[in-house]
Amino acid sequence: MPRIYVHPLPVRIWHWINALGFVTMIVTGFQIRYIGLIDVMSFRTAVVVHNWIGFVLIANFFVWLLFYLFTDKITVYHPDLNPTRQFRRSIRQMWYYGYGIFKGEPNPHHISVYQKFNAMQGMTYQVIMLLLVPLQFYTGVLLWDVERFSGMIDLLGGVRVVDTAHVLIFIFFVAFIFIHPYLASLGHTRSAHFKAMLTGYEELE
Ligand code: HEM
Repeated sequence: MPRIYVHPLPVRIWHWINALGFVTMIVTGFQIRYIGLIDVMSFRTAVVVHNWIGFVLIANFFVWLLFYLFTDKITVYHPDLNPTRQFRRSIRQMWYYGYGIFKGEPNPHHISVYQKFNAMQGMTYQVIMLLLVPLQFYTGVLLWDVERFSGMIDLLGGVRVVDTAHVLIFIFFVAFIFIHPYLASLGHTRSAHFKAMLTGYEELE
């Protein structure tokens, strides 16, 4: 099967550190937020691990950001310049995931070096990486030291507002951590996209 190189090394390193970190953040976040519901470690350990991994993830985010800012690869995230075509492609992709795949229809998206994501994927990843992830980091840092950042917290409407935003995005990521690997398992084999994120090479069907 022919293969193309779609995931450069910095993206792969960023991705797997990020994935591991997010799973840890979700588990420790659950323990901190819903005291008594799950008991994986002591409350204090959960807080310390949550804070440290949080800062590791922020640093790691810059690996992703700087790689895409300083290479020409950012185009993989761009939506189609023609909004009608972008809309049509997204609907076709949703139809495929919701219905066509169960009927054995072929995937309407064909991977290439500059179009490794389908119409839905590119947009979703962009919203996650440029909006939700930075917002989660920002609210997390504010909550990490509410006294030091009290001025900014007050400006945003108080600690309850900041905390609510942090928890709502957390709930989104809990859902994402299940949906994203499920969708990633829908390649020409179950493990095809996972292997690609490890080796860098995507096999062409
Ligand atoms: C259990 C955790 C995870 C697994 C198993 C996983 C798996 C994968 C796989 C197989 C791919 C390549 C296929 C594709 O392009 O969809 C991928 C890409 C991607 N994942 Fe994940 N992922 C995980 C967690 C996360 C998290 C927590 C985030 C963000 C917060 C994330 C963001 C992304 C992004 C942005 C890409 C595209 C990267 C690029 O090529 O620029 N993933 N993931």
